[in-house]
Amino acid sequence: MNVLITGANGGLGTAVCQAFLATGATVMGVARAWKEPAPFLTISADVSTGEGCAEMAKRALEHGPLDALVHLVGGFAGGSPVSETSDQVWDGMMNVNLRTAFCEASGETANVVLPSIIDTPRNRATMPQAGVSRWVAPSSIAQVIVWLTTDAATDISGAVIPIYGRA
Ligand SMILES: NC(=O)c1ccc[n+]([C@@H]2O[C@H](COP(=O)([O-])OP(=O)(O)OC[C@H]3O[C@@H](n4cnc5c(N)ncnc54)[C@H](OP(=O)(O)O)[C@@H]3O)[C@@H](O)[C@H]2O)c1
Repeated sequence: MNVLITGANGGLGTAVCQAFLATGATVMGVARAWKEPAPFLTISADVSTGEGCAEMAKRALEHGPLDALVHLVGGFAGGSPVSETSDQVWDGMMNVNLRTAFCEASGETANVVLPSIIDTPRNRATMPQAGVSRWVAPSSIAQVIVWLTTDAATDISGAVIPIYGRA
């Protein structure tokens, strides 16, 4: 299986890449910049632009047809009241969350996973006082995503799957 994973160097992306590698898949990971070597094929592209997505697709298809696209690029830069949120911050969130998904929309089946707070190194660093026991393990999300790309999930499309952690 050839799988293309955007946001592959992030807290979640790292776990998702590992989960696909464990299945024997050929993994192609996308980020704007790769500073460290990775145990899979890497592609540098900004997927918030049509040009960046075209470059990503061109590079990925050099390795044959794609079987799955896992789109993980996204993020949250808010936290302040709407009245105090600048146009620049708002536009940035729209670009990284919506435009990137729009640029990549394609495929025979399409599903969404909807995690609450993920137990990533960055979340631990930015919320040192938080209780992490209910946070979602990246590997849990990765296993659901891997399953969605298997033959067993051929009939699953349009699903929105909440992954909210332990009660
Ligand atoms: N962390 C959480 O608690 C949490 C909870 C719910 C949902 N989510 C969602 O889950 C996804 C992954 O979260 P995460 O914590 O793994 O995020 P992350 O650590 O910030 O990773 C996202 C990666 O995407 C890459 N990226 C950002 N903009 C890009 C662009 N325009 N083009 C190409 N690559 C780009 C970044 O790498 P470069 O900077 O090198 O490009 C970054 O490493 C996001 O969509 C996030 O909104 C996260």
